[in-house]
Amino acid sequence: MIPQSTIMSILDAVRIEEVVSDFVSLKRRGANLLGVCPFHKEKTPSFIVSPAKGIFKCFGCGKAGDSVRFIMEHEHYSYPEALRYLANKYGIIIEEKELSPEELMAQNEREKMFNINTFAQQYFSDTMKNNEEGQTVGMTYFRERGFRDAIINKFQLGYCLNQRDAFVQHALKNGYSKDLLLKVGFASGNEERMYDRYQGRVIFPIHNLTGKVIGFGARILGGDKTKAKYLNSPESDMYIKRQTLYGIYFAKNEISRLDECILVEGYADVLSMHQAGIENTVASSGTSLTVEQIRLIGRYTKNITILYDGDSAGIHAALRAIDLILEEGLNPRVVLLPPDEDPDSFVQNRPIEEVRAYIEKTAKDGISFKTQLLLKDVVNDPIKRAQVVKDVVSTISLIPDTIYRATYIKECSRLMDMSEQALMNELNKLLRAKIRKSDPDQGNQNVIVEEIKTEPQNLNANAVPIGFYQEQELVKLLLMYGNTEVDIDGVDENNNPMIYKVSVASLIVDDLKNDDLLFKDETHRMIFDIFDRALDGDVLPNDQYFVSHENSKISELTATLLSSPYKLDDWNRKEIKVKTEEDVLSKLVVTSVLRFKDMVLDEKRNDLTRQIMETQDVEDQFALLVKKKKLDDLRIKINQELGIVIAK
Ligand code: CTP
Ligand code: MN
Repeated sequence: MIPQSTIMSILDAVRIEEVVSDFVSLKRRGANLLGVCPFHKEKTPSFIVSPAKGIFKCFGCGKAGDSVRFIMEHEHYSYPEALRYLANKYGIIIEEKELSPEELMAQNEREKMFNINTFAQQYFSDTMKNNEEGQTVGMTYFRERGFRDAIINKFQLGYCLNQRDAFVQHALKNGYSKDLLLKVGFASGNEERMYDRYQGRVIFPIHNLTGKVIGFGARILGGDKTKAKYLNSPESDMYIKRQTLYGIYFAKNEISRLDECILVEGYADVLSMHQAGIENTVASSGTSLTVEQIRLIGRYTKNITILYDGDSAGIHAALRAIDLILEEGLNPRVVLLPPDEDPDSFVQNRPIEEVRAYIEKTAKDGISFKTQLLLKDVVNDPIKRAQVVKDVVSTISLIPDTIYRATYIKECSRLMDMSEQALMNELNKLLRAKIRKSDPDQGNQNVIVEEIKTEPQNLNANAVPIGFYQEQELVKLLLMYGNTEVDIDGVDENNNPMIYKVSVASLIVDDLKNDDLLFKDETHRMIFDIFDRALDGDVLPNDQYFVSHENSKISELTATLLSSPYKLDDWNRKEIKVKTEEDVLSKLVVTSVLRFKDMVLDEKRNDLTRQIMETQDVEDQFALLVKKKKLDDLRIKINQELGIVIAK
């Protein structure tokens, strides 16, 4: 936990132009700075940084936010990680909540573990380069496998001498404890008799997201079948296998740039792929693929291409991976290699164009892959065929997104030559069973989970709901001017005209609450609620509060809206002469509220009209017509008011 006061001092210290220019070259353009957007491909710069507002905004891809958001997006950090990065950049010390003696011990322990790993990595690399055995045995091994210096250096490969305790002695001399050497897996035996655990093996350091060495894989050189091919660091606080992906540090930028991650099985596969220039590759080394690893990939892309051996073990692993990936809401594709090849041999033996072409040509989406694979064995056996249907539909039922589910049902109905309805029935059965399992009451009521009626292609996820812009207009006024006071005409207790000073926030929020009107959009509503609560207190939040809000939706929307400010004189010219900026503002607020209400009424009116058409009962129809008349009167009044405000 970073204390709130520290967050505030970080936000105070950061200068957006300094934060961004570590990554993007910026040129001054008037009050702003301009550069080429780092988040999408573009030739002409449309990426703006506003030092005054503390925000960035790309007019090409729409990404926007403050310094924290920029670091989160660019480095794929979480909110606290980004804060730590900025604190570090500006020399602000993050005082964590006071640590208990146990926590302090644990923290020291962690640091020691990190240190010894770096120390060991340097020693093993150095041994392989400068020691004679290191060169003739370790280096020769990597050379023969086709690894060149660049990749050996980049991945910091190394060699552990084939001696009893060369590394253990070296580490002890440098002040590392026996206890630590045993715990982190460099030594075997006990404190009295310790020897090097990795003796005579080549070393693959494993890096975390920030490039720190957190563990090792050590491969045997000969073909001694009585010994494990790989020895790996034991699991620890620092090296949690199910959360680690080999190569992620070197692959993450390329994964997000290409919006695709290639998943392989082994250390050697990652090295060969990177050496061939396919740098968006990682391996689940040392474990079979886990949910945590998939989520880690999901921070960079939703698209995972599984590149496994073409043997039965590889196929089995791929099927398992498909289910896991779909269940996390990501998109799996599968590329099967010829039966006796793995990615390592495959790329080492072919020109890179051929490799890329093979991947593109043979890649299948996970569900089609599974369907076609299973169908191969069942050609004319109806019972087996039914089993395949069940199997494939159960995989589809793992997908969290309804629209994707429906799309795959369609595709499978084509592949299996079955009606969509039949597949949908099977899917509903499974989904209902799932609901029953998680909530026993619901399953009994025979809920209809899915309906075939929805045509997934016709659903436009980007469609803007009715009234969205009217809402956004009000939100923009709240964000930019919420705490500004404007003059409002009113009357005092004796009905004499007088002028009130009111904040824009209270004008908008109180008015809408009076009429029981709510924003539909979730982010709009969150901002509304923040103001609603703030109005009960003394201080109203300003635009910077929202731009730096922890909720990414709020901060992004704020940055977007702030980067297209009102040109009050424009409005001035278009509508009618107004004296001061403040005068314009109060008119802007009042008209925006009225327009919003007009929209809400319009929606209600359409609703009523539909009901009137549908109802058969004359009494009902009459009642509805009366309601509609009232609405129409209200709308006329609002439009009159709108006219008056504008003309005044
Ligand atoms: N693995 C392991 N322990 C073993 C065998 C394998 O941890 N005893 C892990 C390693 O991370 C290895 C991966 O499983 O990279 C895949 O195994 P395999 O295909 O046998 O290894 P490769 O990386 O292909 O190694 P090589 O090509 O050097 O034989
Ligand atoms: Mn291999």
